[in-house]
Amino acid sequence: MSEKARIAVVYYSSTGHSYQVARAFEEGAKSAGAEVRVRRVPELAPAEVVASNPAWKAHAEASAGVPIAALDDLDWANGFVFGSPTRYGCMAAQLKQFLDSSGPLWAQGKLANKAATAFAGAMNPHGGQVNTINSIYAVMQHWGALIVAPGYTDQSIYAAGGSPYGVCYSAPYGSTKVSEEVAAAARYQGARLARFAEVLASNREKLGPAHA
Ligand SMILES: Cc1cc2nc3c(=O)[nH]c(=O)nc-3n(C[C@H](O)[C@H](O)[C@H](O)COP(=O)(O)O)c2cc1C
Repeated sequence: MSEKARIAVVYYSSTGHSYQVARAFEEGAKSAGAEVRVRRVPELAPAEVVASNPAWKAHAEASAGVPIAALDDLDWANGFVFGSPTRYGCMAAQLKQFLDSSGPLWAQGKLANKAATAFAGAMNPHGGQVNTINSIYAVMQHWGALIVAPGYTDQSIYAAGGSPYGVCYSAPYGSTKVSEEVAAAARYQGARLARFAEVLASNREKLGPAHA
């Protein structure tokens, strides 16, 4: 039975760069015909810490209307995009905390056999983005999700810096925006993910059981 792609774009962002990339993924997935939910994971930092950093405070206020991610979003989706800033070479604790709450869905096989992809950012061009993406992919492997990395399947990947693992942005001190090249690669990666999600979801019976 043919099924439409339903993509959950779940991200954490302190100062807005990851949020912009998440929106570009949304655009790309929609261009491939997907229904998309963009969701932010809950903030864990104390309000006074957020308030002490003008860029963090401004983004927290600007994105207050983005719905908070819930396990129902993962259950609903047949494809996932996860994105995070790099924190000492790994994903942010805020995203990890959300992923760590997925046990009940994992135990029922509700995360397996679904398409998944990831993006990451850091201050420096080589500040650990790939490690952050792989820290997200490790969780996807435990879920039994199918990792849909972009590889070198489109010119936009080269233009954005050439990461075959997933979009990597850099946010040098003082920057407020990701580049158009990064946004274009994110749109491409989002559309690719949606196409894979649709193929997998439409052939679920051929894939066999989603849990032991
Ligand atoms: C605790 C902490 C750790 C960080 N670790 C790294 C790092 O390992 N490498 C790096 O280049 N940038 C690092 N950064 C910078 C962030 O990755 C960067 O500000 C972020 O990607 C911006 O994304 P956002 O605007 O979506 O929050 C760190 C920032 C914080 C607050």
